[in-house]
Amino acid sequence: MDDTSGKPRPAATLTKAEQEERLALHRRFPTAHDLRRQAMRNMPNFSFEYMDGGAGADTGIQRNWRALDSVELIPRYGRVIAPPSAETTLFGQQYSAPIGIAPIGGPGTAFPGAETYLARAAQRANVPYTLGLLSGIDMEQGADLAPDVLWYQLYRFSKNNHKIGLDLTRRAQAAGVKVLMLTIDTPIRTTRPREVRSGIMNPFKLTMRLRQDAMMSPRWLSSLRRHGVPRFTALQPYMPGNLSIAEAAAFIRSEQGGAFTWDEVKLYRDTWQGPLMLKGILHPDDAEKAVELGVDGLLVSNHGGRQIDALPSSIDVLPAIRKQVGDRATIILDSGVRSGTDVARAVALGADAAFAGKSFLWSLGALGEKGPGHLIHIYTEDVRATLGQLGCLSVDELCNVPRRHPGAYSLEDFAPPA
Ligand SMILES: Cc1cc2nc3c(=O)[nH]c(=O)nc-3n(C[C@H](O)[C@H](O)[C@H](O)COP(=O)(O)O)c2cc1C
Repeated sequence: MDDTSGKPRPAATLTKAEQEERLALHRRFPTAHDLRRQAMRNMPNFSFEYMDGGAGADTGIQRNWRALDSVELIPRYGRVIAPPSAETTLFGQQYSAPIGIAPIGGPGTAFPGAETYLARAAQRANVPYTLGLLSGIDMEQGADLAPDVLWYQLYRFSKNNHKIGLDLTRRAQAAGVKVLMLTIDTPIRTTRPREVRSGIMNPFKLTMRLRQDAMMSPRWLSSLRRHGVPRFTALQPYMPGNLSIAEAAAFIRSEQGGAFTWDEVKLYRDTWQGPLMLKGILHPDDAEKAVELGVDGLLVSNHGGRQIDALPSSIDVLPAIRKQVGDRATIILDSGVRSGTDVARAVALGADAAFAGKSFLWSLGALGEKGPGHLIHIYTEDVRATLGQLGCLSVDELCNVPRRHPGAYSLEDFAPPA
């Protein structure tokens, strides 16, 4: 099944054995939630809690799900629908579906080798893969694995006039990264109680409890043997040699922090010669400011409910943000996406595409390296089915679908209290 050529291949060109395997996977895991259930069984408790847990009591995560579920799309019948294509264009490049993989820091804690498997699957399926800065591979390795679809995410490394951040930006440019994404929605470090309860320490330490936990998960352990203990590879050139994981984490904490200021966004805008996105926008005024500074794209996101759980769901603020910026920016949504129907909801309400984070980690926990490809397949087929059911011939037609969106914010909702 594993095609290492790295080229996108439509289902029609799969071998018979591959098609049978795809069908078998689909019978067992038809949705992202089936993958989540299996991941919960397969994975060490600490890694499942790391990838799946949110801020507070997880109510932000639940709000994201509920808000997406509440969006209703009204079909129109009476025209012949050929099987619709899910293809879409983002920043002038064509992708096979309006879906993508959101950046994930420390993905090796969730599943060792995650970055490699995610990058390969995205390249094969021709959907964007956003490599997070805090990853076990660097952007040069990412570009080898996913040369056509690699996006890159940066946190704020501002010491010495952004020495590290700007060098990473230059390296990303040289490696052929397609889109640079600055994450602005982590002004402070917050606590995720499920992580704490599972025994994950900050700084990370492989304690006896975590070791015992890992012993119960043969698939996770065998991936750990194959890929080694996760390291912050992209940052290695900037660290003193031979640091332990805990020391490397301490180094990162000393260098990284805060949210990018608008002046800093401008600095990166002037340095990066390509599409620039800001990730974590929830207010139309911030969207406006970003666009005025020359930012090309906005990722409307509440960080998947992982920062604090009082944030609005991203789907509920999306229409106001689209209204504010009009067609001056590409808009992508994440936070809570678990199906192609969610993707279609987001596009109907103003996004150009929707990305997912947690569900890709569930797919790895459930199926190892075969997981991400299977999940992309589920999402893509579900987008096509939703288009067909609604009477749309293409993704672009979704914006004309009549809809009901009970949780939508209006522009007035964003005003400070009188
Ligand atoms: C385990 C984990 C680690 C994450 N690390 C990062 C990160 O390093 N940078 C970032 O911008 N977002 C990070 N995110 C947030 C995702 O990019 C994305 O916004 C979120 O997962 C989307 O919501 P969803 O998980 O409901 O799909 C992380 C998410 C998870 C689940």
